[in-house]
Amino acid sequence: MRSRRAILYMPGDNWKMITKSITLGVDSICMDMEDGTAVNKKAEARETIAKALQELDFGSSEKLARINSVGSGWEKDDIEAVLPYQPDGIVIPKVESVEQIEWASKIIESAELKNGWKVNSIRILIGIETAKGILNLKEIASHPRLDAMIFGGEDFAASIGAKRTKEAIELLYARQAVIVACAANDLQAIDIVTIDYKDEENLKRESEFGARLGFSGKQIIHPIQVSIVQKAFTPSEEEIAYAKRIVETFEASQKEGKGAYSLDGKMIDMPLLKHAQKVLARAKPTADRRQ
Ligand code: COA
Ligand code: MG
Repeated sequence: MRSRRAILYMPGDNWKMITKSITLGVDSICMDMEDGTAVNKKAEARETIAKALQELDFGSSEKLARINSVGSGWEKDDIEAVLPYQPDGIVIPKVESVEQIEWASKIIESAELKNGWKVNSIRILIGIETAKGILNLKEIASHPRLDAMIFGGEDFAASIGAKRTKEAIELLYARQAVIVACAANDLQAIDIVTIDYKDEENLKRESEFGARLGFSGKQIIHPIQVSIVQKAFTPSEEEIAYAKRIVETFEASQKEGKGAYSLDGKMIDMPLLKHAQKVLARAKPTADRRQ
């Protein structure tokens, strides 16, 4: 699974932003046909995304297209407009049942077979952003074509009637529910957008908090957010060095027959080894990182 520390959205009809996005060194580029695109621009967004997939070199950035939600009436035209040009993944917003993922998965599989592409090579990422999505997480998260679940904070707050605050306490339960469902199914967990994009301090704080909660990446909406978010979701040199020491000393202590031991005055045992291994996995070069 490829690394997705930062997923940058832009309206699918905005050619200028799409061409800008490929110069930014961002992990994933998500060309949007859903809420970022005005109702009277849906057809133009489909055409523009198809053109971008055919004509632009995205380099090492992932090419994603977000369709409208299953049941909106637009979803079939959206997916059919972009699939022939082989995006790396399809993002389905506002997922509330596993059947909605299966609907897209079947269409993707027939495109893969028709074009001679490897089956399961086009991945699905989903938005969990409603009360029903949270309630049905257990079943939804088990779909085999899934790579990641993306938590949509603004939509979720609207769905439960919560007032959004800077601290985002009102989202904590749902954010953690998504993280737990992702961890149980070996999926990436992608955190909320910081819509106040000019406030870099707030973005840094919110990104670091998301990483501490267990998210593997974050959604972004503006180029200035790329490096701050990438940094927050990449382990620091100190964290990597400490994780390496844990792995080394753990092996030695096992050989001595000790399950728990002391390192710098702190108790180390199996859960801390697992955490250290996760830190080292996240520190690997982008392409082969698992979560
Ligand atoms: N992706 C790529 N490039 C973007 C971008 C994005 N999401 N947002 C802005 N840019 C580019 C602009 O085109 C501009 O490029 P230029 O310097 O070559 O002219 C540069 O970055 C600076 O943009 P700026 O003037 O600061 O932004 P803005 O005021 O034009 O737009 C937003 C602000 C929030 C409207 C815009 O960033 C945006 O539409 N973001 C995506 C929103 C979205 O997709 N929402 C749905 C998913 S949550
Ligand atoms: Mg949303």
